Amino acid sequence: PRTAPILVASNRGPVSYTLGEDGSLTARRGGGGLVSGLSAIGPDANAVWVCAALGEGDREAARRAGDSHLNPGDTGGQQVRMLDIAPDVFAAAYNGIANSVLWFIHHLLYQTPVEPVFDAEFADQWAAYEAYNAAFADALAEEAVDEAVVLVQDYHLALVPAMLRERRPDLRIGHFSHTPWAPPDYYRLLPDDVAAGVLRGILGGDRAAFLTERWAGAFADCCAAVLGAEIVRDGDGDGNGDGAATAVRFEGRETRLGVHGLGADADFLRQRSRQADVDERLTSLRAQIGPDRKSIVRVDRTELSKNIVRGLLAYRRLLESHPEWRERVVHVAFAYPSRQDLAVYRDYTERVRRIADEINAEYGTEGWAPVALHVKDDFARSLAAYRLADVALVNPIRDGMNLVAKEVPVVSERGCALVLSREAGAYAELGDDALVVNPYDVEATARALDEALRMSDGERADRTKRLAAAATALPPQAWFLAQLRAL
Ligand code: G6P
Repeated sequence: PRTAPILVASNRGPVSYTLGEDGSLTARRGGGGLVSGLSAIGPDANAVWVCAALGEGDREAARRAGDSHLNPGDTGGQQVRMLDIAPDVFAAAYNGIANSVLWFIHHLLYQTPVEPVFDAEFADQWAAYEAYNAAFADALAEEAVDEAVVLVQDYHLALVPAMLRERRPDLRIGHFSHTPWAPPDYYRLLPDDVAAGVLRGILGGDRAAFLTERWAGAFADCCAAVLGAEIVRDGDGDGNGDGAATAVRFEGRETRLGVHGLGADADFLRQRSRQADVDERLTSLRAQIGPDRKSIVRVDRTELSKNIVRGLLAYRRLLESHPEWRERVVHVAFAYPSRQDLAVYRDYTERVRRIADEINAEYGTEGWAPVALHVKDDFARSLAAYRLADVALVNPIRDGMNLVAKEVPVVSERGCALVLSREAGAYAELGDDALVVNPYDVEATARALDEALRMSDGERADRTKRLAAAATALPPQAWFLAQLRAL
């Protein structure tokens, strides 16, 4: 039976389960912009969230949901349908195509003299990616009422809009990319049919939306270069005439482009960061840093695009070139283990640990460890670090938005200087009050760290206030509603 007037589809859903030895299922709720965004429409809206079962716990939950498919276990008030996709198909689609190919393309991560290699294994993975996308399209087609609105999320599900339109032409379908979009010359590293297939997939929807104008523009450029599609620009039509791409026309259809810069959830962050568990961690972090020392904080997933290695090298360079900072600063680096099924992510995590150890061995003294690296998922500890940070380092190679850059100014107690990569989507909104760096330039990043540490209290506080205002301009609820309205 068709029940849902609003549907969300994403690989990772709002909840995941672990299966206990006694067969019990424990739910763990996910955070993030989508979860808080969806809360804007309230439980009465009858929205259904379709996501993939990621592990054995999720699979078991999906099986227990039975014929209704809905609400496997305790979903925290959301209507959830979890897709139990065959493990080998899921792994090939998620690890193989989504995270090793599309993620790499959009974040410019290939070492191009030897990578990528598109061989027979890739062809099998691509077939799995198509099957995985088709499973989503099937489930969405089943759940949606007539003329329902469907919000498809991210690079995992690039083929879903076109597949869903084929099954249900009555629906209004939008796709949202949370990543950057590659420029055409780089995008065309992909095999031609794959490059075209991804674009055709997204163009199957009524709208394709992005976090910044830059990524929307790159998508349009790829549509023109790969498909020969016609790009509609402001100035050709009735917009504000700034020349930005507003729609893509291809094979008799028009897909509108949208830009929605997801912001930080100020209410949630302010309330969550004042809870007792965060206070406790604040106390222990303060003790670890030591009195009269400054802190440079970074929080990321253990993710290649986050540029943690160059961040550490810049910090090492700071200690080398500015000996006055020795024993007077601690670099607190939190990294949440991520995508550890991929060898290149495991190697990267090891490399991060090794460089942190090297810096501690090189410069550390009896009472001072220059780097405090924690490779662990601990949100409360990150919030504690946001509260006390003097400097936040956000230096990704490329990033769709980067919410850490937006969360820190909201949570900061004394004002925090932000060193920000110009390649993060957040740069478009925060660039004026951040110290902006080229993420590849270690020397310049070290200089920016020095400048950030020396910033006066007054200037830091002023900048932080303006950063917090810009960072919360479009909170998740408004971000979500804006997309619904536009469809
Ligand atoms: C990025 C992607 C999301 C993804 C998240 C975590 O933000 O845009 O779609 O969920 O990373 O990655 P993971 O592979 O753990 O879901």
